[in-house]
Amino acid sequence: MNIEKAKKIKGWMRISELQWIAQQAATHSNILEVGVYEGRSTRAWIDNLQENSRLSVMDSWDTEYGNGEGPIHFNTFKQNLKDKLCDITVIHGKSSSQLSLLKKEYDCIFIDAAHDYLSVTVDCTLAGQLLVPGGLLCGHDYEPSHSGLMKAVKELFPTVQNPVGTIWSVTL
Ligand SMILES: C[S@@+](CC[C@H](N)C(=O)[O-])C[C@H]1O[C@@H](n2cnc3c(N)ncnc32)[C@H](O)[C@@H]1O
Repeated sequence: MNIEKAKKIKGWMRISELQWIAQQAATHSNILEVGVYEGRSTRAWIDNLQENSRLSVMDSWDTEYGNGEGPIHFNTFKQNLKDKLCDITVIHGKSSSQLSLLKKEYDCIFIDAAHDYLSVTVDCTLAGQLLVPGGLLCGHDYEPSHSGLMKAVKELFPTVQNPVGTIWSVTL
């Protein structure tokens, strides 16, 4: 497991959560991450991917997020992943429009984008339609301080699990 570079990138993902991502990276073959920021979790996915596996990432990197510094974070993401960018499919856009353009071909989708109830409901519903049978849908920040996110995930997936930290996961 290799999370050394991920640990050095700014973000909210805990070490135990990066380790969990690294394990999933090693055991899935077509992965989509929604919500990238500066690439902390992306680094954990790509550094642990098996040969012939694929990683796509999606983010709007727009001015609505945080302090309006989305484009700055996109540049930092590219810098943080520069040695691996040719191995990653980067989808630059809003999840509500971009997810519906993708094919049902992923065996793991990780969601860490907008955290409000409506956005999480839309993202999870659209992402669920892109998973092959037995695929893993998962995400971050499953904790009471994100009550809308927790409510949306629990409503959609009553059997949701919390494998580590604030990660949620469900096999569809
Ligand atoms: C919490 S950060 C992601 C953190 C990242 N996973 C990490 O490990 O550092 C959330 C990201 O989701 C993106 N985002 C928020 N809402 C979005 C949406 N509707 N579509 C696409 N990206 C979105 C933001 O631009 C931001 O970069």
